[in-house]
Parts: sequence; structure tokens; C-alpha cells
Amino acid sequence: MPANSVEGEIKTFLDKLDIPHHPLAIKIGKGELSEKQVKGWAKQWYHGFLKDADRWIAQAFVNCPVPAMRRAIIENAAEEAWGYQSKTKGHPELFVDFLGGLGISQDELDNEPVTPEAHASLLQFWQIRSVPWFQFGPLFLTSESEVPRAYVPIMQGLEQHYGVPKDRLLFFKIHAAEVDEAHTATNLKVIREYVQSDRDREECLGILKTTATLISELMGVYRKY
Ligand SMILES: [Fe+2]
Repeated sequence: MPANSVEGEIKTFLDKLDIPHHPLAIKIGKGELSEKQVKGWAKQWYHGFLKDADRWIAQAFVNCPVPAMRRAIIENAAEEAWGYQSKTKGHPELFVDFLGGLGISQDELDNEPVTPEAHASLLQFWQIRSVPWFQFGPLFLTSESEVPRAYVPIMQGLEQHYGVPKDRLLFFKIHAAEVDEAHTATNLKVIREYVQSDRDREECLGILKTTATLISELMGVYRKY
């Protein structure tokens, strides 16, 4: 079995799950969700996916023994924490700007009960503490490769159908267009170079599948609103 065959299996799984064409993205793109559903998804997305991103990533930095990789990880964490590469702001902060554009106050956000979907996603990303350092590759692949592609129709729909001003959509813009291509390459590189044994490959696929499935379920949380 070639060392990088895991990449083929990752691709097959992600293509089948098809996060970029998740019903959430299609329906927001067409304006088919109620305002309440869009707001519900947005609040849960913040709690389950966004708010601790710089900290999960920094945990991978702490665990990584390879200097060049550590640098890539800390740059990624710095981008999440304060917009180091995009020269914008921290991504959670950008997302809160978007929530404001949707009419959600900080108070409303803070007081929103966290759903099981958001809780499960949050725990999954914090799992980076307990797996071998190189398994950050599959853990981050969904968030930095698949999800940004869904942001394209979501961003268009939010502006066209839900009245979110363009300047409040910067979070989506930087993810859809500019920042995360380099992170995808880093994640694939670490998988290619360091996920070698059968055991590690199996674990890599397990982490990828669990993460992508949880993210897909979190995208579907609008159904609860
Ligand atoms: Fe981000």
C-alpha cells in the first residue's frame, strides 16, 4: 500500500459527504431558511466551531516536535487569534461582527443554550490534546478545506436574502477566498509525511470521518429552530 493512499480514502469520504453542497449552504444561498433558522445555526456555529479555534490550534503547536510544522501551526493560530496573515481581526471577532449584522447581540449569543451538536463538535476539536501530534492534519482538514467552500453560497445568500451588509461578511470572505488554501496544503503535507503505519492511517481516517460528520451535523442544526 503506498504511504499516501490514505489521501485517496479521505477524498472519497469527503466527496461523498459533500459539505460544500450541504443543505444549509444551498438553502441559505436560495433564501429558503427562515431568519430564525439562520440565526440559530449562526449562534451554534460560533459556540461549536468558532470561539476556541485559536486555542485548539495552539494545542497542536504545543504537541508538535517538528520545527517547520510548528511554525505553520502557530501562524495558523495567530491568524485565528488576531488575523495575523489576513491583517483583519481574530476570526471569532469577525464572526461576532457578522452576528451583529444579522441582528444578534453579544448578550443573545452568550445566553444561547449550546446544543448537543455544538458541544460534540467543540469536544472533537479539543481532542487534539489527546491524539498524536500529526493527527492535527485530518482533524483540521474539514474545517479548513471543506467548510470554506460552503461559505461561498452562504456568504452570497446572507447578503442577498438576509440583509447582512457586505462589511459584516468579512469572516466568510477571507475563508472563502484567501487564507485557508495554505492551511489545506499544510494539513495534507503532514498526513502525507507523517501518517505512515497502518495503525496511524486507520486513526487518521477515523478522526477525519468523525470530524467531518460532526461538522455536517452542526451545519444541520438549523432544523432545530
Ligand atoms: Fe478561521
